[in-house]
Amino acid sequence: MAKVKTTFFCQNCGTSYAKWQGQCSACKEWNTIAEELVQKDDKKSWNSNTTNAKNKKAPKPQKVADINQVEELRMNSSDNEFNRVLGGGVVPGSVTLLGGEPGIGKSTLLLQIALKLPYKTLYVSGEESAQQIKMRAERINPRSENCYILTETKTQNIFKQIEATEPDILVIDSIQTLHTDYIESSAGSISQIRECTSELIKFAKETATPVILIGHITKDGNIAGPKILEHMVDTVLQFEGDRNHVYRILRALKNRFGSTSELGIYEMLGNGLREVSNPSEILISKNDEDLSGTAIAATLEGMRPLMIEIQALVSTAVYGTPQRSTTGYNAKRLNMLLAVLEKRAGFRLGAKDVFLNITGGISVDDTAIDLGVIAAILSSNEDISIEKDVCFAAEVGLAGEIRPVQRVDQRIMEAEKLGFAKIFVSKHNKITVKKPQIQVKLVARIEDVVDELF
Ligand code: TYD
Ligand code: MG
Repeated sequence: MAKVKTTFFCQNCGTSYAKWQGQCSACKEWNTIAEELVQKDDKKSWNSNTTNAKNKKAPKPQKVADINQVEELRMNSSDNEFNRVLGGGVVPGSVTLLGGEPGIGKSTLLLQIALKLPYKTLYVSGEESAQQIKMRAERINPRSENCYILTETKTQNIFKQIEATEPDILVIDSIQTLHTDYIESSAGSISQIRECTSELIKFAKETATPVILIGHITKDGNIAGPKILEHMVDTVLQFEGDRNHVYRILRALKNRFGSTSELGIYEMLGNGLREVSNPSEILISKNDEDLSGTAIAATLEGMRPLMIEIQALVSTAVYGTPQRSTTGYNAKRLNMLLAVLEKRAGFRLGAKDVFLNITGGISVDDTAIDLGVIAAILSSNEDISIEKDVCFAAEVGLAGEIRPVQRVDQRIMEAEKLGFAKIFVSKHNKITVKKPQIQVKLVARIEDVVDELF
């Protein structure tokens, strides 16, 4: 009988050890090392000789100038937001990993793309039955001729079906459910995930078929499995959002074929995810009443300008210690801005409760919304509403000075496009927009804004 080979893997970072130890020397976590059965065979399940692999010869070094560029570099996924995040479409032979919390809509997103694709797509699910996927497809787009569903978890069988179907794109839902014959440990273990991924990568590179993997995330928000999983794949996407809200954001954490600053926005509806091409319009409420405590700020999500609504509520503290609570905004930054207001602008907010909320369930960490936050707080404190066509794009410093922000032109243009009449920006910002229709109000200190508004 063959000797059973075992290896110890850190379940946190994926480092392997020959014997057990209490602490992982790589990531310094305690009690994360577990034994896994590993039985490696020389022959791999994806055998390039038996398939239509495109390059069978061993590669030789080539001059960059001599390498032929492949003509069609991107496959259009017919989903504009997905294309944008990937940098213009799916690259043939690339491996993309999509991570996100359970129930956020990863399966929905990829099934929807698979149903829309003009290419032959194989959607492999190890999580749901064909009936369940059919039910979901019924809600999204039941009339797709190109999408094949396979419920299978063993990579060897998947490759067999791939040889029979010859898909143009492969989707795996999810990498944690796959297992290969050559490793004995259970599905979802570090060694299984690593091995299955490397088999799929080999398949993708040899046949120039793009592979999209769904990955579960751990409770700290990292993709479950070895850290090297993220190094192995070409692109890592993250699907995020508040499950109780309808908006979902798709962003690239790593992209070998494009920038990581692009982002896609979706809305979860009863019939799947809808692309949101103009997010600012939905994030700003359209009520006509004049409400105190709201201000609109121009922020940037990735490369996209986005107008967001900030709501503040300032009230006298009922209990001894005043409360400060934020949703979608950094609480420390709020405390800092309140201290600036107190010390530099003379507002007595020390004994007041302050609640701050970014509407739409999105969270923003762009410092360019500082002035908007301050305006919302002062508006609530004074109980004077800010005109509906006024918005803000500036950072506030500790001395109460209004500081410039990056890409101010883009923010001004977005505000103008959405019909705002006035935008407050720092005096020190260099503005190159020629004759904007919107009034650009240059301010240097918080007092300038207060004089203007209240
Ligand atoms: P799902 O794609 O199963 O999440 P994941 O694969 O990331 O775990 O998404 C599940 C949620 O999406 C579920 O709670 C229901 C909701 N949903 C809709 O609101 N509309 C739809 O058309 C579909 C298919 C799902
Ligand atoms: Mg799922």
